[in-house]
Amino acid sequence: MTTEQDPVKLMKQQVGFAAADRVQSHSIVGLGTGSTTVHALYRLGERLRSGELEDIKGIPTSFQASVLAKELGIPLVTLDDVDHIDIAIDGADEVDPHKNLIKGGGAAHTREKLVDSLADQFIVVVDSSKLVDRLGSTFLLPVEVLPIAITPVMAAIKKLGGQPEIRMGVKKAGPVVTDQGNLVIDVKFDSISNPAELEKTLNNIPGVLENGLFVGVADIILVGEIKDGQPTVRVIS
Ligand code: 5RP
Repeated sequence: MTTEQDPVKLMKQQVGFAAADRVQSHSIVGLGTGSTTVHALYRLGERLRSGELEDIKGIPTSFQASVLAKELGIPLVTLDDVDHIDIAIDGADEVDPHKNLIKGGGAAHTREKLVDSLADQFIVVVDSSKLVDRLGSTFLLPVEVLPIAITPVMAAIKKLGGQPEIRMGVKKAGPVVTDQGNLVIDVKFDSISNPAELEKTLNNIPGVLENGLFVGVADIILVGEIKDGQPTVRVIS
């Protein structure tokens, strides 16, 4: 099977394109992070170049998004330059039946939550493997932590019943360092029965910047599926 025929890649591409096609001219757009959102950015770049879309401004959620947007000719602004965000497009690691999410697979969840929460409309782009009945069932919960606070934060998380591990780099010795210069702890919870409460409890631990639970933030989920051998997009709104 070639990369082009890889069903997961096809699903990611379809939802990325579908989300980008919802962006209108003159919009301020939150640009998410991850391999699915990358397809949305490519489509936005294409639409800008063809003239179908004009005058959009992007707010990147990570270094990845900012570098790619510059390559694709998507103009960028910061939160200091705007008084609102019209639409944000971002991926997720898990989506539950209430449209609550776990994010942070790319260690970008702190900026992602900031930008995605500010958007009038937040569109999540996922392939069907990301849908779960209960958050935490397939993915560890990422927590961004100030480096000096790593030991007390890990102890506090253990007291809450979580099993924390520091995320380590791939092709980089030592831990992952976020775009903000912090560390990420991935936490296994046996069961996340109340995501809203856990989101607040974790953020109340001194030294925690943000965790990857996104409760009540998503407006629309675009799910990439393969039906009869063809990639399709299901809308959950
Ligand atoms: C980055 C994220 C990503 O959006 C999430 O990990 C999904 O990534 P992908 O689209 O590559 O599966 O939260 O922090």
